[in-house]
Amino acid sequence: MAIQAVRGTSDLLGDDVKRWSAAEHAARRLARLYGYAELRTPLIEDAKLFLRSLGETTDLIQKEMFQFKDRGDHDIVLRPEGTAPVVRAYLEHNLHKTQGFAKLFYLGPMFRAERPQAGRFRQFHQFGVEAIGSHSPWVDVEVIVLCQACVRACGVTDAVTWLSSMGCRDDQQRSASELRSQLEDERTKLCPDCQKRFERNVFRVLDCRKDRCQNEARAAIARIRSKTGYPILCDSCTTHFDTVRGGLRDAGVTFDDTQVFARGLDYYTRTVFEVRAKGLGAQDAVAAGGRYDHLVEEFGGPPSGACGFAAGIERLLLAATKPPSTETPPRQGIYLATAQPAFVNEGFRFAQQLRALGVGAVLDYDGRSLKAQLREADKAGCRLVAILGEQELKRREVTVKDLEEGGPQDTIGFDVFAQEIAKRLKTTACH
Ligand code: HAM
Repeated sequence: MAIQAVRGTSDLLGDDVKRWSAAEHAARRLARLYGYAELRTPLIEDAKLFLRSLGETTDLIQKEMFQFKDRGDHDIVLRPEGTAPVVRAYLEHNLHKTQGFAKLFYLGPMFRAERPQAGRFRQFHQFGVEAIGSHSPWVDVEVIVLCQACVRACGVTDAVTWLSSMGCRDDQQRSASELRSQLEDERTKLCPDCQKRFERNVFRVLDCRKDRCQNEARAAIARIRSKTGYPILCDSCTTHFDTVRGGLRDAGVTFDDTQVFARGLDYYTRTVFEVRAKGLGAQDAVAAGGRYDHLVEEFGGPPSGACGFAAGIERLLLAATKPPSTETPPRQGIYLATAQPAFVNEGFRFAQQLRALGVGAVLDYDGRSLKAQLREADKAGCRLVAILGEQELKRREVTVKDLEEGGPQDTIGFDVFAQEIAKRLKTTACH
């Protein structure tokens, strides 16, 4: 038989590539709009990275890692997720010292040795963001708002966001012992795996694939809810959660904070959320994330709050009811249009002054007509266009037009041109 793609992986071609590119473009645009810089980490990592961070009782660690030994007998893993690699890179490149607070995004393949089914693959792709180095609840608000914007931009119109707080480590211990005591009498009804989970990490019973275990855990949580309230949170975690909810409401974001769900990874503290899309069946989480305030420290860095999310591109496109947004990125930089080839040296001089001030500047070197240059400025997505014509040179001033805002053109004297443009672009730029 002819060789085929490995089960749970797929080729992308034809129109699918176009849909993917549009989704990736939309995600990147949004990430930049919110001030996240791209980070690319390797597809293979030291197995210890994930063994240390994802939780030894999680399905991911127990049965879903593609792990192998290289020729030097090192344990290597195909990355199953992006958060641990990003935190590793954050520390390895000393971003905790040079930047402190870093906002990073990534887009690429992840690998999990799961049983493939609709919406569940062995190689899938995540777009994710990680904001590392802050405990502020506003970071959680920003991450959730960005996550929802990304889901919408990919064409998913019918999705709900489940929101909860897992509290700090102390709160988690209190919740675990409360859940254990509520489940104690039903313990023998749980599957053999969950009987082990009961001891080692009782929350995992909540995401057992067996209905019976899930129902018992949910009933136990309902009992806790009517007794003490759920989630069980200390004062400081309550304040954090209230600020997140308030911030989301003010931002016009809707969420459901009544659902009980367990994230599949163990590094979370405080805020957790999942965005679920209608019509996807069992694998309906198109994006998920939360706060992980101990990971940086566990990897040897300073105590640092952090929060992020990852969205599965395959699931987003399966759930999409309309094509991904093809909205163009915000306009940037300036095009220096010259009316005659002889003026290029003036244009080049300005371009260098502008670049030295951190402003992107482009110009034509091939004597194309002014009309063609203006078309090019528009196509290149430039925010401003400056015209250097005979009149301008005589008067020692430049005519400037804003391609985004429109409005009348104005003139700026040669002497202050670069500074004035830098000022205009810097006050309007968002990244
Ligand atoms: P996760 O919930 O394991 O979280 O995965 C995030 C998203 O990746 C899921 O909601 C889903 O859309 C997609 N996904 C996961 N597994 C598969 C699969 N086998 N096939 C297709 N899609 C899949 C994380 O990975 C965390 N690192 C998210 C995060 C970032 N938390 C904080 N920062």
